[in-house]
Amino acid sequence: MIANRKLIDAAKEVRENAYCPYSNFAVGAAIVDEQGRLHVGCNVENAAYPLGNCAEAAAIADMVREGGKRIVKIAVAGGAGRIGPCTPCGGCRQRIREFADGNTTILAIDDSGDWQEYSIETLLPASFHLP
Ligand code: THU
Repeated sequence: MIANRKLIDAAKEVRENAYCPYSNFAVGAAIVDEQGRLHVGCNVENAAYPLGNCAEAAAIADMVREGGKRIVKIAVAGGAGRIGPCTPCGGCRQRIREFADGNTTILAIDDSGDWQEYSIETLLPASFHLP
């Protein structure tokens, strides 16, 4: 299992590649899948604002592309120096939910080096999913 510290470092590292000229709010996400593999993604904005993609969506796409099925852990690093722990936006909570189970951990990273841990049930209670 990839250690929390390594996952957090991966999220911070990929955040460096974020394309966010409109918000200047860079986000990186790093996933450990059920096979113990690492997947990363950053936000990619667009001049047509609604077309921008979140970091979590990119990391999930990376996981799915490589055949990953479940998110064991996902670390999110956002807005260096601007806010505390960056929790996933509402849409990304639903995206994570799709590949989560009761053991999935979401790490919201604080740039002081600390983080907070959440379950998907905490972030998205009574969520919508198909049987
Ligand atoms: N953003 C993410 O990448 N993930 C989130 O969970 C929150 C928001 C991005 C979207 C946009 O590019 C920027 O952060 C500001 O909202």
